[in-house]
Amino acid sequence: MDFKPLMQARHSVRSFKNELLSDELINEVLEAGRMAPTAVNKQPFVFVVINDPEKLKEIHEAYPREWFKKAPQVIVICGDHEAAWKRGNDGKDHTDIDVAIATDHITLRATELGLGTCWVCNFEAAKVKKALSLPEHIEPAVLLPIGRPDEAEILPKKRKPLSELVRFNGY
Ligand SMILES: Cc1cc2nc3c(=O)[nH]c(=O)nc-3n(C[C@H](O)[C@H](O)[C@H](O)COP(=O)(O)O)c2cc1C
Repeated sequence: MDFKPLMQARHSVRSFKNELLSDELINEVLEAGRMAPTAVNKQPFVFVVINDPEKLKEIHEAYPREWFKKAPQVIVICGDHEAAWKRGNDGKDHTDIDVAIATDHITLRATELGLGTCWVCNFEAAKVKKALSLPEHIEPAVLLPIGRPDEAEILPKKRKPLSELVRFNGY
């Protein structure tokens, strides 16, 4: 129930120890994604765990950054556009919203377990789709490197003040 310190502790980790996490630990983290709320409870996602070194290389090619190459495993959070709820009045596809909530749950649970993660969306989706043989309707939405943090320092959070973000009773 101590959510405030947890959300303050979660930050993007871009430096990891060279250590593979156990399947139990990965499953513990993924359970938090499974419990996320979704539109009409459609649960339109698949979590693909990448820990095979050859497969990891292929994923790294989709986001060729030095720090990312050192991530010992990556969870590819995929949205299922066939399963997702589409709003009746205008057809809006809710895949991205559901994927984002699940990803946030995963990052927070990882933090609680002393693990580090970093959302990565600036990757070449076509390369990931090919590497994982994803069918057309399954979109790789987030690459989430996960592991034990190995950081020299944690920078303070930079956020806009609430006064810039909040309005009452209209724009
Ligand atoms: C949707 C989304 C996409 C992101 N994509 C990337 C990315 O491609 N590469 C990266 O290094 N960080 C990425 N980030 C991490 C953000 O840069 C980071 O969350 C933000 O600067 C706030 O820092 P914090 O996570 O440490 O609080 C992404 C974050 C989100 C939520």
